[in-house]
Amino acid sequence: MNQPLMGGVTAVNAPAFVKQQKLINWVAEVAALTKPDRIYWCDGSQEEYDRLCAEMVAAGTMKKLNQEKRPNSYLACSDPSDVARVEDRTFICSEKKEDAGPTNNWVAPAEMRTTLNGLFDGCMKGRTMYVVPFSMGPLGSHIAHIGVELSDSPYVVVNMRIMTRMGKAVYDVLGTDGNFVPAIHTVGKPLQAGEKDVAWPCNATKYIVHFPETREIWSYGSGYGGNALLGKKCFALRIASTMGRDQGWLAEHMLILGVESPEGEKHYVAAAFPSACGKTNFAMLIPPKAFNGWKVTTIGDDIAWIKPHADGRLYAINPEAGYFGVAPGTNTATNSNCMASLTANTIFTNVALTDDGDVWWEGMTKEAPAHVIDWQGKDWTPEIGKETGRKAAHPNARFTVAATQNPVIDPAWDDANGVPISAFIFGGRRSTTVPLVTEARNWIEGVYMAATMGSETTAAAAGQQGVVRRDPFAMLPFMGYNMSDYFQHWLDMGKKIEASGSALPKIYCVNWFRTDENGKFVWPGFGDNMRVLKWMLDRIAGTAGGVENIFGVTPQYGDLKWDGIDFTQAQFDRITSIDKAAWEAELKLHAELFDKLKYHLPAELEAAKAALEKRLAA
Ligand code: GTP
Ligand code: SPV
Ligand code: MN
Repeated sequence: MNQPLMGGVTAVNAPAFVKQQKLINWVAEVAALTKPDRIYWCDGSQEEYDRLCAEMVAAGTMKKLNQEKRPNSYLACSDPSDVARVEDRTFICSEKKEDAGPTNNWVAPAEMRTTLNGLFDGCMKGRTMYVVPFSMGPLGSHIAHIGVELSDSPYVVVNMRIMTRMGKAVYDVLGTDGNFVPAIHTVGKPLQAGEKDVAWPCNATKYIVHFPETREIWSYGSGYGGNALLGKKCFALRIASTMGRDQGWLAEHMLILGVESPEGEKHYVAAAFPSACGKTNFAMLIPPKAFNGWKVTTIGDDIAWIKPHADGRLYAINPEAGYFGVAPGTNTATNSNCMASLTANTIFTNVALTDDGDVWWEGMTKEAPAHVIDWQGKDWTPEIGKETGRKAAHPNARFTVAATQNPVIDPAWDDANGVPISAFIFGGRRSTTVPLVTEARNWIEGVYMAATMGSETTAAAAGQQGVVRRDPFAMLPFMGYNMSDYFQHWLDMGKKIEASGSALPKIYCVNWFRTDENGKFVWPGFGDNMRVLKWMLDRIAGTAGGVENIFGVTPQYGDLKWDGIDFTQAQFDRITSIDKAAWEAELKLHAELFDKLKYHLPAELEAAKAALEKRLAA
């Protein structure tokens, strides 16, 4: 490790495996600004991972879980003020405000740089600055891109090692003059000489900043999730979406799954649901027993990079290498594949600690344990929970685990060429109004469905929960440029595929979340979502029935396979019925959205809305 030099300048001391002078210069520049005590160049080895974890255990940041019950696994509990993405502190600093668009926070780049230079000056004092090289996508894939994150958080380093292809080999791909996205992260808590660190350093002031033109990321004040693991939302969605616009591809908040029929017919589909709305679960879906011989396999659970190939079709890769998934609600009954992934080598964040050194969260077991230490380090019993309403695990508690631990990982998950996409699915969390499943009659109608999608907000972002907001393409918090230009990009991609003579993927809109008068979900969801997925595949094959309604094509009760479940026509009607008054109100919200997005809003979408209004009025 490097020692501080005289005058507060930290020696860069790049190891021999780092071959690029431009990168070394940038590290030196950032170190001159942030003034860490040491610089450490990560090699991505298991030895390095184990050592950093041990250091964090000693520092109180993480606890090592019971080695018998949960081998090589850790629990980290964050500061209560640092538990989710901070959307109101997330900025897209394009040169022109119009290019960030009306859905993003914007500050002029020069002004933001002045602010950041002030905040980052000396922000790493007393700490180590880790150099974290990573590839989003298989190393060397033509679809992949490289980033380097400089962070003063060892928690970030170990999470990045699971979530991305991180380590030495990245420098070989980067070579002496390859491009990388520079990403700078600090928890924003410099240590004065002799000052003792806290378990979860962070700062009340937070900035998650993107410069799309220069493809840079600067993150200040948070150590949590998407705020700090900069390969994920900051790079793979916000920066990558602008790269995709410029280069003719798509960066999407989508899971990718493979589904194979008993006859061996295999398709890949990509689905966009907002945060904490079921992507991880759908990506690892376990078909009901009656679907004997059907297989669902995972390519990715959160992000898809999708590029057109020479054959005209769209191919997708998962740019990530791990899952940063929602823990609460995950259990063996609804998602045993997910639970099986978490048996070892997992980092848990903000779940509860059981008395025998294992983890627990709400919804993990039917009965809560008699006593746990909650995510804030306090005693928790079911009685205390009832009395105070306090949860044992934070609602946005997460696990970080390597994709390779997923028992149903798809054999092609690491394929550098990606997999061909047969259908896109869009779905929000809506207790009313939106039916179980609708097929768009054409690409424009599908883009309209995705663009006007609404969803009830969840604990994945700081702020109010459970209010319906428009979340176009499930990308509202992750768009790197003007939303309407993104709609246009989707329309243009459709035109290009059509012109190539290739079949366009079908587009579906789903909603698993309609509730009854007691607020209970009517649709069983989870594995039973297979019934809807099968209908989609049958539609692609041209063998399934459906009827046109005002939005598109919807199955009738008899078009779905009901073996092994007692779900009545009346229940089906409940989650597929279209309430005219509710849809009149819904269309007003579409109008409000379109008014907000009117700059560059594609005329085709206005026309789709007018046609829908006409059909509703008829
Ligand atoms: P991010 O990682 O935040 O982008 O979210 P995600 O979409 O991957 O979320 P995840 O799959 O982890 O969703 C977690 C929540 O969705 C939990 O509360 C689950 O219980 C719930 N959930 C998942 N699938 C279903 C379903 O089919 N029906 C119902 N009712 N809830 C579901
Ligand atoms: C989401 O919020 O959509 C996530 C979790 O996938 S985070 O990485 O924190 O953004
Ligand atoms: Mn997500």
